[in-house]
Amino acid sequence: MTIKDLIKDPSISEKVSIKGWVKTFRANRFISLNDGSTPKNIQCVVDYEKTDELLLSKINSGASLKIEGTLVESQGKGQSIEVKVENIIILGECDPKTYPIQPKKHSLEFLRENAHLRVRTNTFSSVMRIRSSISFSIHKYFKEKGFFYVNTPIVTGSDAEGAGEMFKVTTLDINNAKLNSKKEIDYSEDFFGKETNLTVSGQLEAESMAMGLGKVYTFGPTFRAENSNTSRHLAEFWMIEPEMAFFDLNDTMELAEEFIKDVLKDVLKECEDDLIFLNQRLIEEDKTKPMNERNDLTLLDKLDFVVKNDFERITYSEAFNILKNCKPNKKKKFKFPINEWGVDLQSEHERFIVEKHFKKPVIIYDYPAKIKAFYMRMNEDGKTVKAMDILFPGIGEIVGGSQREERLDLLQSKIKELNVDEKELWWYLDLRKYGTVKHSGFGLGLERLILFATGMTNIRDVIPFPRTPKNAEF
Ligand code: 4AD
Ligand code: MG
Repeated sequence: MTIKDLIKDPSISEKVSIKGWVKTFRANRFISLNDGSTPKNIQCVVDYEKTDELLLSKINSGASLKIEGTLVESQGKGQSIEVKVENIIILGECDPKTYPIQPKKHSLEFLRENAHLRVRTNTFSSVMRIRSSISFSIHKYFKEKGFFYVNTPIVTGSDAEGAGEMFKVTTLDINNAKLNSKKEIDYSEDFFGKETNLTVSGQLEAESMAMGLGKVYTFGPTFRAENSNTSRHLAEFWMIEPEMAFFDLNDTMELAEEFIKDVLKDVLKECEDDLIFLNQRLIEEDKTKPMNERNDLTLLDKLDFVVKNDFERITYSEAFNILKNCKPNKKKKFKFPINEWGVDLQSEHERFIVEKHFKKPVIIYDYPAKIKAFYMRMNEDGKTVKAMDILFPGIGEIVGGSQREERLDLLQSKIKELNVDEKELWWYLDLRKYGTVKHSGFGLGLERLILFATGMTNIRDVIPFPRTPKNAEF
């Protein structure tokens, strides 16, 4: 019996048996017990006069217990039901002197250092339940839309994004590796007989699958060795990459917007208790901040707003004009000034567009070819590609996608122009030789969506064990 079931459908006078961890123990009488099934705790009332003192002394925050008793209407305030305890079994003791998670407010930084225990706190258990729910909704959405779930390799020889931010995979002894005639490591001696790395994206392989299955998606871990120590970057994150045959960029923007809204609608429906808790947490946190740093909307209002309103859609050129003529640019407030068409948009620019100018999610499309990956389809103007990014308030980019270059000759010349390693891409080029079709897809960063759904501000706090530069603990 879980505490969730017990609270949802209580039948008074029923005998219950529950297991969980002690949140608090007050006045030698009131145990607040949680088993992870819900953010709500159940109050268990002990008759201390009839309970062994040694046993009482072991009921500390963090200890695990089995409690048997009777469900009764609560005498006290704050809950409608409680368990009248008849028997307690201490499953695992918890030393209150050394247990890091004390029944008080801890900083998120402190909890990050204790990531193995932080899921016992209200905040992290709520975030992790929401994470689980979102993952499930994502699969549900694609299943209902007729997509097939495919698994693309984690170890690969290609650099899908062409950014060179890869973790090497090798079984060679790096201190004793054999060198070739050019004094480079001889990877023909390595496990796979060639240089391999952890994938930065499953897109290229997903394209191959879409060319036979029509609509597919991947949902898996992705690795990037970019040295960005920011609150938005992980070295290991989870990405969802749908890929659709016969879709153009417009179809893809439609799908991406509907997909995000549907998943958030599901969260609002499925995770009500957790959202109410996180909403309140943010309201409390806001009170400690100066007026100008407080949120305009509560978490629940923000989610509701995104679900109910259309995302703005503008081209890169329109975004460029807005930025070029905006106050912060004219007053030289941007670290990277906007003056020439073609510059990459930095997060300060994206935030201005989303948070100050439109105050809603924005899809920017038709980016300059020079700042985007080799596989994106060239537009008729010969300058821009059919790429799109979805930007969210408070987060920045959460989706990156594009229509793919399906024309062999154009793709080949692009690969040459950008100096992409062509020998690893022979099979990718084959897809353009044998029954090529228009197709498109995008990648959604799971953790970035969870940031938005939970109102958390650091990406390290929405994945159980974050991997970031100089940090691979746990
Ligand atoms: O924009 P990106 O690099 O696009 C791709 O990888 C394409 N192959 C996707 C596709 O078209 N199939 O990454 C997609 C998304 C970003 O918008 C962001 O949400 C997330 O992945 N992302 C990260 N999330 C956390 N930490 C990082 N280091 C991330 N890098 C990208
Ligand atoms: Mg991107």
